[in-house]
Amino acid sequence: MTERIIITATINDEETQFMADMRDSLLDALRERIGLTGTKEGCNNGNCGACAVIMDGRLVNSCCVMAAEVEGSEITTVEGLAEADGLTPLQEAFLEEAALQCGICTPGFLVASKALLDVNPHPSEHEIRFWLAGNLCRCTGYDKIIRAVQKAAAQRGA
Ligand code: FES
Ligand code: FES
Repeated sequence: MTERIIITATINDEETQFMADMRDSLLDALRERIGLTGTKEGCNNGNCGACAVIMDGRLVNSCCVMAAEVEGSEITTVEGLAEADGLTPLQEAFLEEAALQCGICTPGFLVASKALLDVNPHPSEHEIRFWLAGNLCRCTGYDKIIRAVQKAAAQRGA
């Protein structure tokens, strides 16, 4: 029999309690236990970044974090990015720059880009490309994504 545990964490600013199997990853828990399906599963082995979330201020691949590890943590998923009055400038920039096609990678890119801009509000192109190197996209060719992050950074002002 699989052992189940109850976990309490702050997810997108809301205290959340959920039950998970001991072997569940955070990605499993978000999608299957909590219903936050915005976080995507690509490789399920830490190589694509589709499952990126911010955990206690650090960008992590949620497929590589055990659900049991998040007890007491603060998690931000793609669902937690938008504000009450609409999309964030970063999300708007992705739309304006057509930085998505099929969209499977987009939540991971948005979360990773937010994590970058949180620690480095005015990154160089090289810094953006380096930071996003762990996020894979089969569709866009990356340039549009980079332009979107540059645009969002520019809108923050000097
Ligand atoms: S699904 Fe987690 S890194 Fe690919
Ligand atoms: S938009 Fe399709 S994988 Fe990135």
